[in-house]
Amino acid sequence: MGNVGKPRERKGVENYYFGGSGTEETLRANKRAWEFFALRPRVLAAPKTVNLGTVILARPVPSPIVVAPMAYLSLLEDDGELIMARRAAKSGFSFCLSMRSAVPLEKVATVFFANLAKQDSQCRPLLLFQLYLLRDRGISESLARRARAAGFDGLVVTVDTPYLGLRRRDRLNQFVVPEKFRTANITDELSLRSQTTSEDGTVSAFGVSFESNITSYAQDPTATWQDVANFRNEFPQWPIVLKGVSQVHDLSSSSEISDGVIISNHGGRQLDGSVSTAVVLMELGILDVAKSLTLMVDGGVDSGADVVRAQCLGADAVLIGRFFAKALFRSGEAGLKLAMMTIKEETWLAMNFLGAPNRESLDRSLIRFP
Ligand SMILES: Cc1cc2nc3c(=O)[nH]c(=O)nc-3n(C[C@H](O)[C@H](O)[C@H](O)COP(=O)(O)O)c2cc1C
Repeated sequence: MGNVGKPRERKGVENYYFGGSGTEETLRANKRAWEFFALRPRVLAAPKTVNLGTVILARPVPSPIVVAPMAYLSLLEDDGELIMARRAAKSGFSFCLSMRSAVPLEKVATVFFANLAKQDSQCRPLLLFQLYLLRDRGISESLARRARAAGFDGLVVTVDTPYLGLRRRDRLNQFVVPEKFRTANITDELSLRSQTTSEDGTVSAFGVSFESNITSYAQDPTATWQDVANFRNEFPQWPIVLKGVSQVHDLSSSSEISDGVIISNHGGRQLDGSVSTAVVLMELGILDVAKSLTLMVDGGVDSGADVVRAQCLGADAVLIGRFFAKALFRSGEAGLKLAMMTIKEETWLAMNFLGAPNRESLDRSLIRFP
């Protein structure tokens, strides 16, 4: 199972996907932090019906679950991006495609929209496109234009990755993503430009190399708030979300130029030692500025209990990454289908146990604070 069959390569992929940066303190803390927020079930109060729906970027959606953007899903299974798009759409989950996709974004959009349930076009999951501001801003703009034309519902600009966190496992494994995966989504852009080579003369991997990333299609560490604002102006009428916020100051700045924010530390893959996202959500979720935006969170969410905890703390939606990636890697599309079904059912059950018929009834009274 999985696209990279040989044991050593599979080990490299597994470590790349499921590891974090440094000593993986933040990776562990993300998961653990949700457990501090114990739920308080109500008795003899099960609602007649439970509606999982919420609102993301002013659009009603059937579920608060969004598949997090993850690079190169095809490492996990052939056509991993297409499988994830299909299963998300069929499950009623929104899907955020990473720009580091091993399948052209247009193909992913076609599969996502073809697999949506027909019944309710007013309330459907969203398809979002995740973008980095690259050193060659022309590539970022071209990708965003293509995503817009392909029908993506909004743009997620990831701002926590000026440099890649140092992932020790990848360094030890000398793990590098195969070239064909790295360029699949940007062949048009690259054919228009000559590739910039790194200082030692080799084209370094963007995204996952243990070497320094000195290519035109690496993230730009000099990007500023003004760059995001300029980008926003390029695409008026298209919702934009900033991913990677932890600071109250950054939340305020985001609110001036975006429609939504994702509280995230990149799943513990960037600054190891960063505060867990559940704790950030506890602190920021009650602020008026947070309520003026679509507020989302990710990091260690892997159960229905976590989904409702996040909502009780103020999130409109949650992103889930590795829980779905793991299912795809271990058991292919069938395993992913089961994982999605499981977390949906757990969320539905948790809301029943809490006596909460809908998103509005999930609040801080249902949580015991640590
Ligand atoms: C293998 C892998 C690749 C990722 N690639 C991206 C990416 O391309 N863009 C991005 O914004 N976030 C990326 N992320 C971060 C996820 O979007 C998300 O923030 C994180 O995985 C959430 O934590 P979880 O995996 O614990 O659910 C990646 C995460 C993993 C595990």
